[in-house]
Amino acid sequence: MSTSEDAKRAVGHAAAALVEDGMRLGLGTGSTTAFAIEALGRRIEAEGLRVVGVPTSFAAERLARASGVPLITLDDLGMAALPTAQAPLDLAFDGADEVSPDLDLIKGRGAAHVREKVVAALAARFVVLVDTSKEVARLGTTMPVPVEVLPFAEPAVARALRGLGAEPDLRMGQRKDGPVVTDQGLWILDARFEGIRDPGALGAAIDGIPGVLGHGLFVNVATDVLVGDPDGSVRHTVQPRER
Ligand code: A5P
Repeated sequence: MSTSEDAKRAVGHAAAALVEDGMRLGLGTGSTTAFAIEALGRRIEAEGLRVVGVPTSFAAERLARASGVPLITLDDLGMAALPTAQAPLDLAFDGADEVSPDLDLIKGRGAAHVREKVVAALAARFVVLVDTSKEVARLGTTMPVPVEVLPFAEPAVARALRGLGAEPDLRMGQRKDGPVVTDQGLWILDARFEGIRDPGALGAAIDGIPGVLGHGLFVNVATDVLVGDPDGSVRHTVQPRER
């Protein structure tokens, strides 16, 4: 029987197939991207591809090491010497929790969205890997917006999010007592909005709250979306960043 696992595997393989020799990559986080990292590792072994990747989380770093994908840090990209018009990374791939018809996203179910956004912004192409269950008519209808906050500021940020119309909820650990602690040592407020009319304006407003490190709204960041179907087919939509 085909499942959403088959859809994730199909998009993971399609993402790995976009990689060319010599590329500098961004390696996303999550169960869908895991298929891409593993498939990339197999291509490196079979074809001798010379690529390097910047991981977006401890989870991505560990999986890339186990899969034989060579890793670098942002320091290794030599950004000070690059022209500002040149993207330091050729391609980054990553999953998402919701994708809108405009290819805007909600990310951060795995609490890696801040590093993911840094890496996505450095890439000439940001390729999003999802199955059909992630496609929504409007962002915020099925998932909250994760907001990474300074623990000290959590009550104040929650109050400000309520002022923006959200129902914020401090994300609690599984198999750990207390809040989820991110790779940066901060906390996550999941802000539920019953549908988001203007993701760009909302994202800017959340960025303006003191104590917020970042949030999971990715507006005008994706250049490619690969949507996998359980039958193994993949739909590829391409969109330039400037709209
Ligand atoms: C990590 O924090 C997230 O942004 C993931 O990339 C996103 O939640 C998609 O994960 P799955 O591929 O596991 O659904």
